[in-house]
Amino acid sequence: MATTATGILAEDRAETRQQVIELLTAAYWMEVETVMNYIANSVNPDGVRAQEIIESLKEDITEELGHAQLFATRIKELYGVVPGSDDFTASQHSLQPPERQTDIVHVIRGVIEAETSAIEHYEKIVEFTEGVDPVTNDMVIDVLHDEQKHRRLFEGFLREYEAEGRA
Ligand SMILES: [Fe+2]
Ligand SMILES: [Fe+2]
Repeated sequence: MATTATGILAEDRAETRQQVIELLTAAYWMEVETVMNYIANSVNPDGVRAQEIIESLKEDITEELGHAQLFATRIKELYGVVPGSDDFTASQHSLQPPERQTDIVHVIRGVIEAETSAIEHYEKIVEFTEGVDPVTNDMVIDVLHDEQKHRRLFEGFLREYEAEGRA
């Protein structure tokens, strides 16, 4: 490690850096799990009504994959190591496939829940890195914005189903 590094990369900031790496690793897993579940949920649903949700999730997959890569790259820049799949533990229980593949509301609610968890975790990272690691701070604010857009879109879908008495 360069002895001239300052800020978050400085030698005496190893402990703080480790805390940021742990937060980023949790974020990385959330994105990877989202990619898995959005793939499944963009393929499984049946019916005319499902097509809008399928198209939207298909677009999100690319974006969530990009987030995973951003988090991985930042872990590396902070002298961390991106974990392999042995360390993975699933947590998105509400995004598992529904019993009936026409149950689109189940998928919509699952997406809203996953996006909400991501938003809460990223708000925590933004708070922690404020004034400590401006680069991570800036990066996570952008990702947070993406997740807020995703959640808002799916809240709109849910509102439509609720208005029709289907949710
Ligand atoms: Fe994401
Ligand atoms: Fe998202």
